[in-house]
Amino acid sequence: MKTSRIPGFYKLSIIERLRLVRDFAELTDEDLAMLLNTGSLQLSLADRMIENVIGVFHLPFAVATNFLINERDYLVPMVIEEPSVVAAASNAAKMVREGGGFKASTTPPVMIGQIQLVDVKDPHEAKEVILGEKEHILEIANSKDPILVKLGGGAKDIEVRIIDSMKGSMVITHLLVDVRDAMGANAVNTMAEAVAPYIEKITGGRVYLRIISNLAVKRLARAECVVPKEVLGGEDVVDGILYAYAFAAADPYRAATHNKGIMNGVIAVALATGNDTRALEAGAHAYASLSGRYLPLSVWEKTEKGDLRGYLEMPMAVGIVGGATRSNPLARIALKILGVKTASELAQVMVSVGLANNLAALRALATEGIQRGHMKLHARNIAIAAGATGRLIDLVAERMVEEGVIRIDRAKEILNELKSRQEVT
Ligand code: MEV
Repeated sequence: MKTSRIPGFYKLSIIERLRLVRDFAELTDEDLAMLLNTGSLQLSLADRMIENVIGVFHLPFAVATNFLINERDYLVPMVIEEPSVVAAASNAAKMVREGGGFKASTTPPVMIGQIQLVDVKDPHEAKEVILGEKEHILEIANSKDPILVKLGGGAKDIEVRIIDSMKGSMVITHLLVDVRDAMGANAVNTMAEAVAPYIEKITGGRVYLRIISNLAVKRLARAECVVPKEVLGGEDVVDGILYAYAFAAADPYRAATHNKGIMNGVIAVALATGNDTRALEAGAHAYASLSGRYLPLSVWEKTEKGDLRGYLEMPMAVGIVGGATRSNPLARIALKILGVKTASELAQVMVSVGLANNLAALRALATEGIQRGHMKLHARNIAIAAGATGRLIDLVAERMVEEGVIRIDRAKEILNELKSRQEVT
């Protein structure tokens, strides 16, 4: 049985870790070479991904361990510059495992395309006309993507809204498109552009914008977990986390940071798998404000037994086909490590990781604070910046943490001291 529960993974060397991941995900020698080669995104490929390329920018690629989601074990690839996020996700996943793991689900992968119609005499009449032509509008949209339709996706329905704006009433048609395993922006935008002339023709109005909405309320991912109080450190910790949640629910200044903790996990997986992180951020924060107030995306409560239950629901517009998910070789390897078969399964993993990072942050904040854990990693970064290499990185970092002074000048002093001692011995 494959398990993602790998105690002491963080203490292994990169090669030892890689061997374990290779066995878990059946990576090929070529995959391993790609991961070990920091130049694996070829300049020529990068030059085809965006414009005006002058180089390739690298970030650390890690895996979080311990994730059990819907009874299945996952090693979760994460790409991020911030220390502690991967460790926090792994620790939280270990605690959640004790309570049976994450239960995750998704709605069908339906994205919204918006078509903005203005200059109509009677918006209500225009709305009725558009709704009356629904079947033909869907036909035009679907004629643009027969492959998606063959896969069971395609434009499925429309909604029409009348909104008041500073430039008067507008009639906004929502094209609801099941995008299957794609993120969907290309398919949806193509369809929205295709139906626009017909909407102008039947209403006599003028269409301006034809574009996907990143507020993907039809494409939600949900995760739930229960963590036994003993695993968290007692009922006091549960209460601390509930106070943290109450704070976020009452105060947008705190809710923004609470949600940032969730996005730490979500975005790290999105980056690793080549997904559009801006679309996810936009969707998440708009969803958090949908009630008219900016709220925490997750909910935390106490069970009858005094354990902690967490729930996270958010839009999750991610794909496993198209875009950088396939063109970036490392994103392809990340998807292989995950072993997800559909975009919905990837969304379930990502929402679980978001909940895990949220749990880890709230637990740390409600107890010892986050700085102790952060400082250890921060100290290593400062030691490296001061010129430490190999074993000296940990020695310099440990000394700075012990002293409670984590500064580059002190790192240099300790480094010189250690080096001169090495020279003497
Ligand atoms: C830091 O990257 C994330 C936290 O600020 C999240 C939170 O405060 O809940 C620790």
